[in-house]
Amino acid sequence: MDAHDTLAALRDEFTLNEGEIYLDGNSLGPVSNAARRRVRDVMDEEWARGQVRSWGDAAWMGAPTRIGERIAPLIGARPGEVLVADTLTFLLANLVGAALEQRPDRHVVLTDAANFHSDIYILEAMCERAGRPVALKAIDRDALDEHLNDDVALVELTQVDYRTGESLDMAGITAKVHGAGALMLWDFAHSTGAVPLDVTGANVDFAAGCGYKYLNGGPGAPGFMYIRESWQGVLRNPLPGWLGHARPFDFELEYAPAQGMQAFVTSSPSILALASLEGALEIWDRTSMQEVRTKSLALTDLFISLVEERLPGVFEVVTPREHARRGSQVALRHDHGYGVIRALIDRGVIGDFRAPDICRFGFTPLYLRFVDIYDAVERIASVIEESAYLDERYAVREAVT
Ligand SMILES: Cc1ncc(COP(=O)(O)O)c(C=O)c1O
Repeated sequence: MDAHDTLAALRDEFTLNEGEIYLDGNSLGPVSNAARRRVRDVMDEEWARGQVRSWGDAAWMGAPTRIGERIAPLIGARPGEVLVADTLTFLLANLVGAALEQRPDRHVVLTDAANFHSDIYILEAMCERAGRPVALKAIDRDALDEHLNDDVALVELTQVDYRTGESLDMAGITAKVHGAGALMLWDFAHSTGAVPLDVTGANVDFAAGCGYKYLNGGPGAPGFMYIRESWQGVLRNPLPGWLGHARPFDFELEYAPAQGMQAFVTSSPSILALASLEGALEIWDRTSMQEVRTKSLALTDLFISLVEERLPGVFEVVTPREHARRGSQVALRHDHGYGVIRALIDRGVIGDFRAPDICRFGFTPLYLRFVDIYDAVERIASVIEESAYLDERYAVREAVT
């Protein structure tokens, strides 16, 4: 399978530890040669030599929109619809604040009760600050129809469930939400670079994602926001700052938004962090989301079938089998999930644990080989057969799981 893998050569572009199998690119992608190169260039040339002149000469000011253009094709956006700035929770806050202003007569925001906790916290906080009574309802996402009505202003959902790896029907759900006159905001944390997305085809209003998972932009890399073209010039940035102004260097005291996505830049772009992400995105010049998706499904299919064949009845496979409903991760439920993951990390298979009982394995086709899947399952089998997960060293949970 590896001999026929059209993506095989890309593995050399990443730094991976000898003997380890990295199945945690859905949490933090590994460093790539291009990311290192770009950070070095910015450090040694643009900053060291160009100094303050580089804001203009090295086009630092344009980095948020320039890097946004690189992400746009990965989510099916058109040019001018994506901006890279800040991290995901901040971006969601901005978009929720801006969206609520566009539905002033509505008083409900819907989200998924199984959503990532940060999404729920920030949605709640933004509802409280909406300037009118707005209630957040965290519902069973499968019961969305029952809750959609003419009082719903906004629906926010995470497109690939961070815990189970289920991929939601973006187009179908967005159409339903629009049918009720509400706006749709998607969290692409586990989608971008993992599953093909078509925000244009699905007529999505807004979306945001992060740069440090499948995009390999580095720890805490800036994320991105998508605002459909038709909303630009209408939607107001709830955090207006000088760099979102039409003329920042006129130092006018009255705010006048810049054109397009630039209006959603609030403050100085974090150039070193952006450099790492910009370098990491170069890999997409050598492949496509379709090619990556084909291999992702082959890797996750193989992993699921080997786990079931080698360890029948040991784990519950939580991730959907249907390709259309699967992201690029596999979640296995086990009563001693935390011990299983810790024991695996000690044996060189890097995955992570999501409470209460999910062992989570992410599959990034850019650097994983099929042989890694066989080896990983063998190591999982040894952890189970030796009951290594019961080791007392794993009895206490570490701060980061
Ligand atoms: C689904 C989801 N949403 C939001 C976040 C929060 O991201 P950030 O720390 O960039 O705000 C994460 C982080 O992993 C996530 O998985």
